[in-house]
Amino acid sequence: MMVTQRRTVLLRDGTPVLLRSPEVKDAQALLDFLKATAGESDNLLRAPGEITMTLQQEEAFLDALLTDERRVMVNAYIGDGLAGNVTLFPVGGRSRMRHRCEIGIAVRRAYWGRGLGALLMREVLSLAPGLRFSQAELGVYSDNARAVKLYEGLGFETWGRVKNACLMPDGRLRDELLMGLVF
Ligand SMILES: CC(C)(COP(=O)(O)OP(=O)(O)OC[C@H]1O[C@@H](n2cnc3c(N)ncnc32)[C@H](O)[C@@H]1OP(=O)(O)O)[C@@H](O)C(=O)NCCC(=O)NCCS
Repeated sequence: MMVTQRRTVLLRDGTPVLLRSPEVKDAQALLDFLKATAGESDNLLRAPGEITMTLQQEEAFLDALLTDERRVMVNAYIGDGLAGNVTLFPVGGRSRMRHRCEIGIAVRRAYWGRGLGALLMREVLSLAPGLRFSQAELGVYSDNARAVKLYEGLGFETWGRVKNACLMPDGRLRDELLMGLVF
């Protein structure tokens, strides 16, 4: 994994945020974060009941991540708590896709709208060219206005739309936008 330089930066309201890469010992905190963010938002891939990884599985996931030089994970801590997390990984292993990376991000609801999402996105995007990626891609539900605004602000454009990509428990269907940024 490409490691982020560990440092403290300030949100625009002056709140200090520690940015650092994860270690295997962060597995429990990351599981707790996944469960919390899945419960706080309908906009992630996993429904709240679907964070079923065991601590050992999460440790194994982190171990694999740490040894894969083309992956990045950046954690953001406010106080002692994990407030946000972003991952960047190759779209696929084949040579014809080697220039394409994908990004996934989540911020704890208590910190939405304070610039933490943008900070984390900028951090991983700044590392991507060093990993020989020349474009970043992501999927976002079309009604996730906050996320779409965030990505557009960073220069992402909508490249496509998957109709009815998401089926909600009440039967509602939601489209997914495929967004990308060439750098
Ligand atoms: C999407 C997410 C990562 C954004 O994080 P964040 O820390 O709130 O992001 P920021 O504060 O940096 O930026 C949010 C942007 O949304 C805008 N925004 C705030 N409230 C908004 C609203 N109700 N509608 C539309 N845009 C809104 C802000 O103006 C800001 O854009 P700007 O900087 O250009 O002004 C966060 O809301 C989150 O984790 N949501 C749940 C999980 C999720 O949706 N992940 C992404 C899946 S693709």
